[in-house]
Amino acid sequence: MKISLLEAASRLKAGEIVAVPTETVYGLAASIDHTKAIEEIFTRKGRPSNNPLIIHASTVAQIKEYVEILPRGFFDLAQAFWPGPMTLVLPAQVRRVSPLIRANLPTAAFRIPGHPLALELLAQTGPLVMPSANLSGLPSATSADHVESDFGPGLPILDGGKCTCGLESTIAIFNNERWQIIRLGALSPEAFLPVLGYVPEVSTVKGQSANITQPLCPGQLYRHYAPQATLLPLPDLQSVCQGTVIGFSDRNYGEEMQVLSLGRSDNPREIAENLYAIFRLVDDLKLTKAWIDLDFPNTGLWATIRERIQKAIAK
Ligand code: TXA
Ligand code: MG
Repeated sequence: MKISLLEAASRLKAGEIVAVPTETVYGLAASIDHTKAIEEIFTRKGRPSNNPLIIHASTVAQIKEYVEILPRGFFDLAQAFWPGPMTLVLPAQVRRVSPLIRANLPTAAFRIPGHPLALELLAQTGPLVMPSANLSGLPSATSADHVESDFGPGLPILDGGKCTCGLESTIAIFNNERWQIIRLGALSPEAFLPVLGYVPEVSTVKGQSANITQPLCPGQLYRHYAPQATLLPLPDLQSVCQGTVIGFSDRNYGEEMQVLSLGRSDNPREIAENLYAIFRLVDDLKLTKAWIDLDFPNTGLWATIRERIQKAIAK
């Protein structure tokens, strides 16, 4: 159910949940002050309670109210990348941030999103917690239609069109005197170099030891981003000549292949924007398997695209 900005604000203030557009993906929002609504988010998504939520705000001043200490480099990062697709995990004021939001961790995650509607809404409501607006395990929603297909027509949605980034925010934490990336996202690690003077180390769950009990980014432990269909890496352009391939508009996969195009192979932004929509299309078409072309670089945004595809392949 599409609603206006005014209605979205008043429903959130009254303790309801509303789907909200951001430049990365849609979020399922609740007011930071409404515990029942926050609990409802976990239930509606089927999200484990040990997976904490990101607090979204419209200003740094609002964020500061919930943070214990601001690590070195915080203001430089905030100035460079907010509003935008960067989330920072910071020591939380544990009395102000409910344990429900931070899954009992001593930290909380914060972001100022770049979408104009999200910013306007946040200015009216104050901080909102929002995970991605998808059922746990499915690809994130990058349009209002995706949200509706996961949650049904009853969920109020503020429609902000198609998300321009199409991939979730990059999450960073300050550890041992350095910022470190704990989830690859729409902002590439290389983008941090001019701000911090170094490229943050990427420490995702894969790189941590197998028997860790407390991963840096709990959400990374769960199955993610996957369509129901089995995705298979395309070995090369010649050896497969039938079936469906998720690939690039400027490559020739052969006459017999059905191509679901992600966009041009020289435009990672376009690929990022379309990736989850194509994953969802594979299921809408009721395909049981599809090939996927992984012949692209490993740098910048491509690294995030590859990581999301690898997760979808692994299921
Ligand atoms: O782009 C985005 O980040 C989107 C939009 C809606 O802002 N949100 C999003 O939220 O992707 P979600 O809940 O799907 O993913 C949030 C991730 C999870 O992997 C969670 O474990 C991690 O953030 N996270 C949240 N709080 C954390 C904390 N205190 N320490 C470490 N990781 C945290
Ligand atoms: Mg998510």
